[in-house]
Amino acid sequence: MDTPDNIPTRLDDTRPGLTKPDTRHTGPADTVARLSSRLPGFYELSIRERLTVVAGLACLSETDRFHIGHFGSLNGELADVFIENAVGTFSMPLGVATNFLVNGKNVLVPMAVEESSVLAGASHGAKLARMGGGFKTSATLPIMTGQIQLFLKSQCDFDGILAAHKQDLIAFANHGHDRLIARGGGACDMDWRYIPEMRSVVIHLYIDTREAMGANIVNTMCERVSTIMPEILPCDIGLRILTNLTERRLASAECLIPASAFDSPEYKGKDVVDRIEKAYLFAKYDVHRATTNNKGIMNGIDPVLIATGNDWRAIEAGVHSWACRDGRYSPLAVWRKTLHGDLHGSMEIPMAVGVVGGVTKLHPTAQASLRIMGNPDASTLAQIVVATGLAQNLSALRALASEGIQRGHMGLHRKNLDMLEEWASRASSNN
Ligand code: MEV
Repeated sequence: MDTPDNIPTRLDDTRPGLTKPDTRHTGPADTVARLSSRLPGFYELSIRERLTVVAGLACLSETDRFHIGHFGSLNGELADVFIENAVGTFSMPLGVATNFLVNGKNVLVPMAVEESSVLAGASHGAKLARMGGGFKTSATLPIMTGQIQLFLKSQCDFDGILAAHKQDLIAFANHGHDRLIARGGGACDMDWRYIPEMRSVVIHLYIDTREAMGANIVNTMCERVSTIMPEILPCDIGLRILTNLTERRLASAECLIPASAFDSPEYKGKDVVDRIEKAYLFAKYDVHRATTNNKGIMNGIDPVLIATGNDWRAIEAGVHSWACRDGRYSPLAVWRKTLHGDLHGSMEIPMAVGVVGGVTKLHPTAQASLRIMGNPDASTLAQIVVATGLAQNLSALRALASEGIQRGHMGLHRKNLDMLEEWASRASSNN
């Protein structure tokens, strides 16, 4: 099997990231972090060569290489476990975005996506951010919110009653979750609101789900707590389910890019910065533009979620609802020109991702994807995902604010169209 050392004709072995990893005293996470995610010319390699480079950098096992490199790693048995009525699997390209520097660490970002230009866009955005030191990221604690809806049967002082029982209800929710509590998680807070139109009290139960996305834990706890509510309040029970608007589980990323990073023979960097800021303002004041802007951000986010087996529909729902939190749909990221004329970008969004449980644990390619990133914990993964969304937005705005999206985007898209035409003409000549 190839190693990074024997792709000599096309790679300069002295370039960062392409030297053979020293695995004597490091695990995959350290190895990737010590080397570089700057892989010039990576996109010019063959698919096999690229996998060889990534496998070398991330110290992937032969099994990981097999699952990533053999198309359709999800076997029928697993597919049947994941869903009902399975009849097969649906394959999608898996790529690796380069150039990411997140809190000073190099990260290779696996992305499963069908749209051309997404990988190139993310890598380009990360390259621009790298010129200003990369992304600085952070995350809140992994606190999920569960909703328990109650219908009041008669007037009562529900505020007083719930306040008096709050700690007992939290303790009741935690019953049977000793392992989660031993890891520092568990139900930790509770509040409630009243919906007068329905005479309905909605309890919010806050649960630290640690390394898990946590939907099952949250729903289980909500159902359990609901069983004793009629003993406390005169009520019927409504829904008991998590909310995907995970306001207490946020991740954020920011970057500062020197205006000179945008210099090109055709454009002055400082003008591009001006135009990127205006593009942000356009999205701020125009919901149609905000929608497309945020679609571009999700171009970066969803593929990482898919590659790591996370629930991208949950994140999509939460993020779009978050975009409306001030009463109007707004751009998720903020881009501003600094006093020195450089560009500052930032984004904070709900990001409930897990690295244990469910598909993440069972899907062999999801596992390999996590290893490519150096086996991040859930909080680090959330931060990498947000950084990728910000990178994607940056690269789209840079193109839109200068030469336009069609040159780069459509250049890659044209490759697809050419191939499609070739396939179609081959198919018709076979008929
Ligand atoms: C295309 O998939 C995404 C963009 O439309 C995003 C944007 O307009 O910001 C290029």
